[in-house]
Amino acid sequence: MKFGVFTVISVAPVLAHPSWYHPSSLPWAPSGPNDVRGPCPMLNTLANHGFLPHSGKGISAVDTVNALNSALNINQSLAQFLFDNAVTTNPAPNATTFSLENLDRHDILEHDASLSRADYYFGDDHTFNQTVFDETRSYWTKPIIDVQAGANARLARVRTSNATNPTFGFSQLGTEFSVGETAAYIIVLGDKTAGLVNRSFVEYLFNHERLPTELGWQRPTDQITTSDLSNMIDRVVNASSNASGGAALKVRQVDAHSGFHR
Ligand code: HEM
Ligand SMILES: *[C@@H]1O[C@H](CO)[C@@H](O)[C@H](O)[C@H]1NC(C)=O
Ligand SMILES: *[C@@H]1O[C@H](CO)[C@@H](O)[C@H](O)[C@H]1NC(C)=O
Ligand SMILES: *[C@@H]1O[C@H](CO)[C@@H](O)[C@H](O)[C@H]1NC(C)=O
Ligand SMILES: *[C@@H]1O[C@H](CO)[C@@H](O)[C@H](O)[C@H]1NC(C)=O
Ligand SMILES: *[C@@H]1O[C@H](CO)[C@@H](O)[C@H](O)[C@H]1NC(C)=O
Ligand SMILES: *[C@@H]1O[C@H](CO)[C@@H](O)[C@H](O)[C@H]1NC(C)=O
Ligand SMILES: *[C@@H]1O[C@H](CO)[C@@H](O)[C@H](O)[C@H]1NC(C)=O
Repeated sequence: MKFGVFTVISVAPVLAHPSWYHPSSLPWAPSGPNDVRGPCPMLNTLANHGFLPHSGKGISAVDTVNALNSALNINQSLAQFLFDNAVTTNPAPNATTFSLENLDRHDILEHDASLSRADYYFGDDHTFNQTVFDETRSYWTKPIIDVQAGANARLARVRTSNATNPTFGFSQLGTEFSVGETAAYIIVLGDKTAGLVNRSFVEYLFNHERLPTELGWQRPTDQITTSDLSNMIDRVVNASSNASGGAALKVRQVDAHSGFHR
């Protein structure tokens, strides 16, 4: 792995200053007129805090690995894997960076049945959409979201898209990302072992694109690894097949990328 060295050097100063996580000292500013944002509420958040370039543009592997480690304690191998997927959304040949708006491109990573964005078919697949998010939230019926409630909310969005969008479909990679996003908010904002997360933290992230430090969220103390994500994906898939009698993941395939390595 040729990226092994720089990350160790560059994350160390941030790890030495956990006081960054005090709500009053963690910088945050919304996007300005020359900044771009995209469909991922967490990457938008990290750009708003300056963990990623505030412009949302020219995001390198180094930027991604350091931001995900500094802000969220995500293992560098997992961050590199996510970057390797993200860079495929940059249409430039042999790109080594991506922008948050590159992520809007439909059916690469961006997919139908998002939790807070409308389907591409309806015109805007990347801006927060209150109507869509209200449907999602209606399945988070308790102050603590468990894996089943997370799975139910995602499945409801799949059912709605299937019923209303004549072009509805998922790529293999889109399916993995869709389930992975539900797994990600549970793991990153909550308790990855119990499979529980404060609903208020999740809603705050989506609504404000800001880390929910003022509500009591803290950077996970235990590093988040690829196997944590993969285990939580399995739990979400299990809860999904339970809720739907096994039909959850049988959707029309729109292409054939390879997905998460389990
Ligand atoms: C380099 C790292 C990452 C990349 C490239 C990435 C990419 C994306 C993309 C393309 C989407 C849009 C999918 C869609 O709804 O159509 C998305 C959504 C999402 N991402 Fe990320 N993401 C990254 C990291 C994270 C992390 C660390 C979290 C942790 C909480 C996260 C949480 C989410 C959630 C919850 C959604 C669903 C939004 C919705 O359905 O409305 N992402 N991400
Ligand atoms: C990240 O996880 C990989 C295994 O996926 C492991 O080899 C590596 O040591 C971890 N990195 C750190 C900094 O712990
Ligand atoms: C992209 O990379 C390929 C393989 O390394 C190379 O043949 C090609 O010339 C590169 N294209 C550009 C535009 O740099
Ligand atoms: C929000 O999503 C709904 C449902 O897909 C759609 O009808 C509506 O036009 C969207 N709103 C905006 C402002 O895009
Ligand atoms: C919910 O938030 C409180 C702090 O407000 C925290 O003590 C608790 O551990 C959180 N629960 C989960 C499941 O993250
Ligand atoms: C799978 O789902 C069933 C039914 O909800 C549950 O009883 C079981 O514990 C789950 N298994 C795993 C490994 O999460
Ligand atoms: C789903 O879970 C319920 C209990 O939570 C159980 O009774 C039912 O058999 C499960 N169904 C499937 C298909 O696993
Ligand atoms: C989509 O709807 C069709 C019926 O119109 C149904 O056969 C199929 O199972 C549904 N797919 C999902 C993923 O709900």
